[in-house]
Amino acid sequence: MANDGVNDPVNAGRRKFLTATTAVVGAVGAGFVAVPFIKSWSPSTRAKLAGAPVVADISALQEGQRMILEWRGQPIWIVKRSQAILAALPGLDGRLRDPDSENAEQQPDYVLAENRQLRSIKPEISVLVGLCTHLGCAPEMVAEIRPEPYDAQWKGGYFCPCHKSRFDMAGRVFQDVPAPTNLVVPPHHYADDNTIVIGVDPQGGV
Ligand code: FES
Repeated sequence: MANDGVNDPVNAGRRKFLTATTAVVGAVGAGFVAVPFIKSWSPSTRAKLAGAPVVADISALQEGQRMILEWRGQPIWIVKRSQAILAALPGLDGRLRDPDSENAEQQPDYVLAENRQLRSIKPEISVLVGLCTHLGCAPEMVAEIRPEPYDAQWKGGYFCPCHKSRFDMAGRVFQDVPAPTNLVVPPHHYADDNTIVIGVDPQGGV
C-alpha cells in the first residue's frame, strides 16, 4: 500500500487520526447541517507541509452526509450521494458549462472512467476540493432536491454565497455563474472498501 503519511512511525498515530476523521461526519435531515472545518484534525505540521496523503475511514458516512478533511491546506469533501441525487445528475447536463468534464485540469481521468457525469470512483461517493473555482470561497452544500430561491429546479448541489455560483452534486458548474470551471476532484484511491486515501491516485502517483 502507498505511504499514507499518517502511519509512521507508529500505528497509534493512524488510529488516532482515523478516529478523528470519523468524528467529522455531520448530521443531516430536513436541514442539512454543515460540519465545521476543524484545522486541529489535520496531520502533523511537518506532514502537512510535505503534502502528505490523508486517510479517511468512511464506514460511518450515511447518505446525504459530508465529511470534511484537510489536505495540502485545502478542505476536502467526501459526500455520500443518494440514489435520487445520482438519478438527477444526467438531467442537468443541458444547464452546465462543462457537463462531460472535458477540462482535464479539474479532475483525474480515472474518476471519469465509469460515468463522466458522476466524477467519482464509486458512484455514490463524491470527493471534491471544497473551494469555489471563482475566487476560492467555500460553497454551501444544499443536498436536498427542492426549489431554492436561486434555482427553482434545484436537484441538490453546492451554492457559493460570495457571488452566487452553483454546482451540482458532482461539482459540475452551472452556466451563467461567475465560477469558470467545475470543482476540483483531488487525486485519491480506496485502500479498501471503507478507506479513502486522499493525495495518491490508484496507480500510486500523486
Ligand atoms: S467565490 Fe464563489 S462565486 Fe465568487
